[in-house]
Amino acid sequence: MSVHTLEIDGRMVTALEGETILAAAEDAGIFIPKLCAVEGLSAPGACRLCMVEIAGQNKLRAACLTRAAEGMVVRTETSALREQRKLLVELLLAEGNHVCSVCVVNGYCELQSLAAALDVDHVRFTPRYPARTIDLSHERFGLDHNRCILCTRCVRACDEIEGAHTLDVAGRGRTARIITDLAEPWGHSESCTGCGKCVRTCPTGALFLKNKPAAEMKKDSGFIRQIIAARREKIWI
Ligand code: FES
Repeated sequence: MSVHTLEIDGRMVTALEGETILAAAEDAGIFIPKLCAVEGLSAPGACRLCMVEIAGQNKLRAACLTRAAEGMVVRTETSALREQRKLLVELLLAEGNHVCSVCVVNGYCELQSLAAALDVDHVRFTPRYPARTIDLSHERFGLDHNRCILCTRCVRACDEIEGAHTLDVAGRGRTARIITDLAEPWGHSESCTGCGKCVRTCPTGALFLKNKPAAEMKKDSGFIRQIIAARREKIWI
């Protein structure tokens, strides 16, 4: 397998053939903001937070979708990129109901962390304050549509890792929402295995464990990488 050498933020890094700029940057310890990409899951390019500048290209590229190439010169942190990311985070905050002080994952939310890292101390848009439902029908999990940013991590974890495909997206535009099975209450789902992979990959408080204090809500989608490695090594067979 061939290896490419490229420059990211002035550092020379290497990437295996087919690896994305995001993966190469993360391997080298370079942080690129993201909300939809998770190592081990397919990348939908939904959040656009990972956009980067590539020398010689006249438009921004999503680092999670763009393959690293030999000699590429990438910049991940410019004032224009920062402004664009701030704008995206503000739009996400205005679109849903993200009141951190009463959120079940306050302190462990990736959207919240990103907003803090980007110095988003206010939102320049009128909040929509949508009146969305909360599905508490499942015995162990809850789904709060008010806090969902439609990154689809949960859908992909359920489909690509668990193989259940209980979750999906229904509707379009402002009516788009996560559904279970054929838009039934989660607790009535016959396909859900109750594995909780969706909850662990959710970057916000949209999916949460019921009856747990905020301190136990810390999520870590790194378990997906471990599952994939274990399956590849046939550790569980
Ligand atoms: Fe690349 Fe979301 S992480 S578009």
